[in-house]
Amino acid sequence: MSTDQQPRANSGLFRTKSVEQSIRDTEEPEHALKKSLSAWDLTVFGVGVIIGTGIFVLTGKVAKENAGPATALAFVAAGIVCALAALCYAEFASTVPVAGSAYTFAYASIGELPAWIIGWDLVLEFALGTAVVAVGWSGYVRSLMDNIGWHLPASLEGPDIPGGTFDILAFLLVLVLTVVLVLGMKLSARITAVVVAIKVTVVMIVIVAGLFFIVGDNYKPFIPPAVSPPGGTSGWDSPMVQLIFGYEPTNFGVMGIFTAASVVFFAFIGFDVVATAAEETKLPQRDMPRGILGSLLICTVLYVAVALVVTGMQHYTELSVSAPLADAFKAAGHPFYAGVISFGAAVGLTTVCLILLLGQTRVFFAMSRDGLLPRFFSVTHPKFKTPYRPTILLGVIIAIVAGFTSINELATLVNIGTLFAFVVVAIGVMVLRRTRPDLPRAFRTPWVPVLPILSIAASVWLMLNLPGETWFRFAVWMVIGFVVYFLYGRRHSRLGRQGRDAQY
Ligand code: ALA
Repeated sequence: MSTDQQPRANSGLFRTKSVEQSIRDTEEPEHALKKSLSAWDLTVFGVGVIIGTGIFVLTGKVAKENAGPATALAFVAAGIVCALAALCYAEFASTVPVAGSAYTFAYASIGELPAWIIGWDLVLEFALGTAVVAVGWSGYVRSLMDNIGWHLPASLEGPDIPGGTFDILAFLLVLVLTVVLVLGMKLSARITAVVVAIKVTVVMIVIVAGLFFIVGDNYKPFIPPAVSPPGGTSGWDSPMVQLIFGYEPTNFGVMGIFTAASVVFFAFIGFDVVATAAEETKLPQRDMPRGILGSLLICTVLYVAVALVVTGMQHYTELSVSAPLADAFKAAGHPFYAGVISFGAAVGLTTVCLILLLGQTRVFFAMSRDGLLPRFFSVTHPKFKTPYRPTILLGVIIAIVAGFTSINELATLVNIGTLFAFVVVAIGVMVLRRTRPDLPRAFRTPWVPVLPILSIAASVWLMLNLPGETWFRFAVWMVIGFVVYFLYGRRHSRLGRQGRDAQY
């Protein structure tokens, strides 16, 4: 392409930022992040964020309401969707090792507007994900406090509790974690490593100790027959697939497994966050794929085992929906194990919150560095080398959201946003293979384009199993994003400015 063609090609909504330029931007000293993470750090990071509210809370809910013992199959289904996406993420993350995850990948492959859409979408995923997990954490901490006779005033227990309005614990957790992140990546990675060890130990206790309390009859029937939902579902709270195709809504049965999968998908969110730390990785080309795929595999095995054990310990109709892993042990007459599990869950959810918050600030940082959001936010701290400005701004907003918002509807919104990001990444892999076949790829997604197409189909299928109202809320968020882009980002984009400068 001749130089006079370059600005024209780069002036539209689909202008792309070259991979080389993305990497060069990270090397500007005042906008650079410290490169300190290894493959091991990334795996710990991944497991640290992946195991959380999904397995500790949602397992009981979906077993009771959607899938019974077949919840284990729902985890397998959601795991397959994530594995397909992970293989696409791994290629992108090892080819474009700069902060920002799917946002950066989309910028380098499909263009600025799709990149903006995905960045905006990731802000939603990580911000609301952080809030959801903070509220889940607060529930476990209150349960532990109750054990030793401490009680908060009801009004400070959060909007999910009758009489509650403000969740003081969730609010404080997010603020404390914000300070940890401002102080520096290495510090937070060290804290993460200790907490992840506690969390994995607790999950192993559930699996190993729980094996002794399994009652075979609890698995019968393994896939409970489909039934109409109690009270019936109508309108926008039904899964989108039922609204589109006009099915009679049912719980359980084979369709129930997919409904359950679209919910427990939340349990897998996080492996994509590993990709957001690419810029802070010492050898991203080698270590990124190892970190992403390794953490995903470990979590899938643990989830399936936990789901099988818990639904074997207690009949699915009797499982608790707030603390199913601990309560299954209480029901089996072992309150000591229940206490240990509650403690581990509370500790474990801390890291999930921390890493989601980290991913969120890194996406914001990358968007600001590109001028799509004010550049003020992409100046790193002179001493700690962290993007402290977006960290503080977003930390405070998320703390307030976590304090005042009910978690239920937020979780499905997080899922739809994440699945949408998977779709964009899979498209990006195919596009980049065509437009930049020359780029060195330390990790190559196998069977392109078949595997990315399968990944898109699988992600869309889970999205279709989410409620219609979730689709509506997601659409509203994206419309706001378009407005922000056309009023601010499009004009201030660094790439757009470079294109315009080159024209004169
Ligand atoms: N995967 C994370 C969780 O389950 C977000 O909490």
